[in-house]
Amino acid sequence: MAPLLSKQPFHAIYIILFAIKSLAYMPWLILRYGIKSTRPYPEWSLATCIVTAMTREIFRYQTATRSSGVASVESSQNKAKERFRKVHPGPASLYVGPLTPGTTNLAAVGGLWYPQPPTEGASDERVVLHFVGGAFVLALATDSNGADVANSMSKHMQASRTFVAQYRVTTSSDSRFPAALQDIVTFYNYVLETGVKPANVIVSGDSAGGNLVLGLLRYLGTHPVLPKPGGAMVWSPWVNVTKTAGQDYYKSGNSKHDLLCGPLLQWGADAYYPEEVRPSDDRVAYISPLHRPFRTTVPLWLHSGMAESLHDDIKQFADEMTAVEGNSIKLYSTKAAPHDLLLAHKPCGFTEQLGVAVDDASAFFESRK
Ligand SMILES: *[C@@H]1O[C@H](CO)[C@@H](O)[C@H](O)[C@H]1NC(C)=O
Repeated sequence: MAPLLSKQPFHAIYIILFAIKSLAYMPWLILRYGIKSTRPYPEWSLATCIVTAMTREIFRYQTATRSSGVASVESSQNKAKERFRKVHPGPASLYVGPLTPGTTNLAAVGGLWYPQPPTEGASDERVVLHFVGGAFVLALATDSNGADVANSMSKHMQASRTFVAQYRVTTSSDSRFPAALQDIVTFYNYVLETGVKPANVIVSGDSAGGNLVLGLLRYLGTHPVLPKPGGAMVWSPWVNVTKTAGQDYYKSGNSKHDLLCGPLLQWGADAYYPEEVRPSDDRVAYISPLHRPFRTTVPLWLHSGMAESLHDDIKQFADEMTAVEGNSIKLYSTKAAPHDLLLAHKPCGFTEQLGVAVDDASAFFESRK
């Protein structure tokens, strides 16, 4: 099933062509966006235009060559030594309903603590458990991404500690749905086992990681195997994960300038969906939550960028969740922001806007205590 470009010698030839194309692309981008009035949004600097365009190309490259990035996350985690934790699955009773092992088995997974793992007596601290995105196929929980997320959470969420977790991405048929969601439960159980009070835990995720956080809330609502977290925060969550996600991506005019690309989403959806021809509605609700809202007692804060292609889907989903009686939902949208402000803020020059957004999330959770 792997495309030709993931095999040698085609892979090597493709790398060379990609490098040549990138070298030529840079000067073209500088010419194209050098003058302020030619940029898609007045808030965008030349750097924003270049970063979004180059990120799109890198995602295209990773998609064409099926480069999951798992090895670089693993080496990054190993280098972190005492901040690294390998987490083993909890008792079987935690994985029921759609998470019951079968087509996918439970596995040990790893993550990094910032600044350090909790010590005895840390139960009163606010802890953020974060899942980095990657369209279910790219592993992006490197130490540098993790440190950046943790920095935002300590500055603006008053979090004493952040754990940035790498769930399984789909690399073969035994890491399709529900493997990643099983891992989310494994990580959440682990954080509670360190002694942190559930009410002090904020679960967070960006993009596909946000999708998984929504899956966790749905799961805990139907199968209360663990106490619920104090709040949930999802950044540019991927909520419309369908078999035509790749072409749907271009329906939004924002896709022209945003940093994702259709082929990556198509790869992600194809890889993540279970192999059966018609998965049950119950399972699809966990994979693609748009138009399948659910009741949750956990305060849920959502973020979208107004310049992102997924903005309309996220807004629609937030409206659907708000309409469910008893839910406590807030959508916060940042003007002119591309996809995934949490990870993209630095290179895109949106750090100030990110700070304001996390402050808003923090105030929202305080007000729901
Ligand atoms: C979601 O995906 C479906 C099917 O791929 C598509 O028809 C629809 O336009 C997308 N967006 C919304 C808001 O439903």
